[in-house]
Amino acid sequence: MQRTKYCGEVRDADVGERVVLSGWVFRRRDHGGLIFIDLRDRSGLVQIVFSPEVAVATHEAAHALRSEYVISVSGEVRKRPEGTENQNLPTGAVELYADDIEVLNESAPLPFPMEDAAEASEQLRLKYRYLDLRRPEMQQNLILRHKTAKVVRDYFDALGFLEVETPMLTKSTPEGARDYLVPSRVNPGQFFALPQSPQLFKQILMVAGMERYFQIVKCFRDEDLRADRQPEFTQIDIEMSFVQPDDVMNITEGMIQRIFRDILSVEVATPFTRLSYADAMERYGNDKPDLRFGLELADMAELAQQSSFKVFLDVIAGGGRIKALRAPGMAGISRKEIDLLTVEAQSYGAKGLAWIKVRDGFESPIAKFFPEETLRRMAQKVGAEEGDMILFVADGERVVNDVLSRLRLELGKRLGLIQPGYRFVWVYDFPLLDWDAEEGRFVAMHHPFTSPCDPDIQQLMQIPESDVLDDRFAQKHSALFSGFKAKAYDVVLNGYEIGGGSVRIHRKDLQRRMFAALGISDEHAAVKFGFLLDALNFGAPPHGGIALGLDRIAMLMVGASSIRDVIAFPKTQKAICLMSGAPSFVEQKQLRELFLKVDAPA
Ligand code: AMO
Ligand code: AMP
Repeated sequence: MQRTKYCGEVRDADVGERVVLSGWVFRRRDHGGLIFIDLRDRSGLVQIVFSPEVAVATHEAAHALRSEYVISVSGEVRKRPEGTENQNLPTGAVELYADDIEVLNESAPLPFPMEDAAEASEQLRLKYRYLDLRRPEMQQNLILRHKTAKVVRDYFDALGFLEVETPMLTKSTPEGARDYLVPSRVNPGQFFALPQSPQLFKQILMVAGMERYFQIVKCFRDEDLRADRQPEFTQIDIEMSFVQPDDVMNITEGMIQRIFRDILSVEVATPFTRLSYADAMERYGNDKPDLRFGLELADMAELAQQSSFKVFLDVIAGGGRIKALRAPGMAGISRKEIDLLTVEAQSYGAKGLAWIKVRDGFESPIAKFFPEETLRRMAQKVGAEEGDMILFVADGERVVNDVLSRLRLELGKRLGLIQPGYRFVWVYDFPLLDWDAEEGRFVAMHHPFTSPCDPDIQQLMQIPESDVLDDRFAQKHSALFSGFKAKAYDVVLNGYEIGGGSVRIHRKDLQRRMFAALGISDEHAAVKFGFLLDALNFGAPPHGGIALGLDRIAMLMVGASSIRDVIAFPKTQKAICLMSGAPSFVEQKQLRELFLKVDAPA
């Protein structure tokens, strides 16, 4: 037997017992007479003592041990001498006196010392991921992820959901992110796409009468990466028949509550706060607001109109917005600091950053353009008090919200306003469609299978068929379509979108009109989405669902700042696996078999 116990589990109760332990040499201290080793396995560390008085040959062998050698040792567990206990270690009251050792494997010199592995560059950590994953923090992250998946499976199983696997080799469909493509050898010139999500399959499972589906599933998207985005990531994917948004939201809240209770012993209050998309944008400037602190944005257009400040008046005249953010206690900052803040706002897309300090009245280069009473009312509107500063951005709505929401987060962090804990919020009533100026057409804000809200369905279905067949259908009704709302909802945790879903379109006639609104012709829809439209023909039940980002949830639960820390083998910002070297060039022979020629820039 190579072990009778795990290193981290040796305790007082084992004193006087013989045990066999196996693991990795973490630290070695040679005190001449005695050699001490911290032996590590997944369960933790225990101190091994090699003494010539216990076993001469074993003590001699311990001289050769180096970091990360793999060994088995046996011997007697003893109480540590008075004063040498280590309170910080669960095994700190005991040690093993080794009388036998077997070196199972050696290790080459390490690229970074294991003790400071957390400080090693991420490049090195990713290249030697197997060493990085030996760190207790990383092991804890993977353990938490495993437990989360188990809680999720148990939760859905108890509620009658079936976990059904859906294909990884699927059809490339437009309207999402960019696909990862896989050439088909037996069908020359044709490609599979890796799924961006199982969206269409889970809907078809509802048509197939599965009623309640879930899956913990890999998804693939070829998009620009960020700290919370990977090209392959894992969704907790859910779909249910005969439901309204509330049903999906309740089931989701229950799942989150269970995860946080069982794994973190944190009691999450339900129902979660709900914010309409319009409110979220108005008050926080984005659709994934971090509610762990206040600093809500205030609309200043009306008050700004009472000024003679040309920048503001011009923006209002041009149909733009003026919103303000309170910067608590920042009236004392220097001109230089204001300049830095302005540069920051400009890096987010602002043309400038107007400011007013509330300090013995109002201090600002633009104060002279405003009546005193207007200044007072502006301060009141944004909740600014003596000692605060007010920051203004004037521009098109998108820029104003984007800049101020980012400044808000920055100030929240910098001023230590962010309360600890987990703040969940549902954002709902999203616009159905978004005008894509580049493409000159509408795109689905969520995806093209999301149901409009009921009054909008009626309006869409009332449009005469002749219009729908017209190429200019979307342009002709653009004012109407712009106002359409979706039966869609996102769940947000501490400023991160951790999930999103919707009630779907389950009738073919409505789906057809939705495609038409997106500028997708009947013929094109038949080629790309024919299988869905066919399925909707055969008694599709009303259905809806959601998908949650498992990586993001795990990241927030462990307090990491990147999802890479909760993924065993993640990719870099450039979508590279530094450990395996993927992606890589392939043999000409492989390409020939696939009838492919590569025409890549040198
Ligand atoms: P959506 O595209 O909103 O919805 O994705 C659902 C959730 O998946 C997570 N997520 C990601 N996590 C890491 N890296 C990525 N690149 C990434 N992209 C998305 C987010 C997101 O909220 N089929 C629909 C769901 C539905 O309608 O039921 C879908 O995929 O946490
Ligand atoms: P100016 O009149 O350009 O000197 O600008 C006066 C102040 O208004 C400066 O603090 C600028 O940073 C600020 N400012 C300029 N353009 C904008 C804008 N679009 N939104 C907010 N503040 C602005």
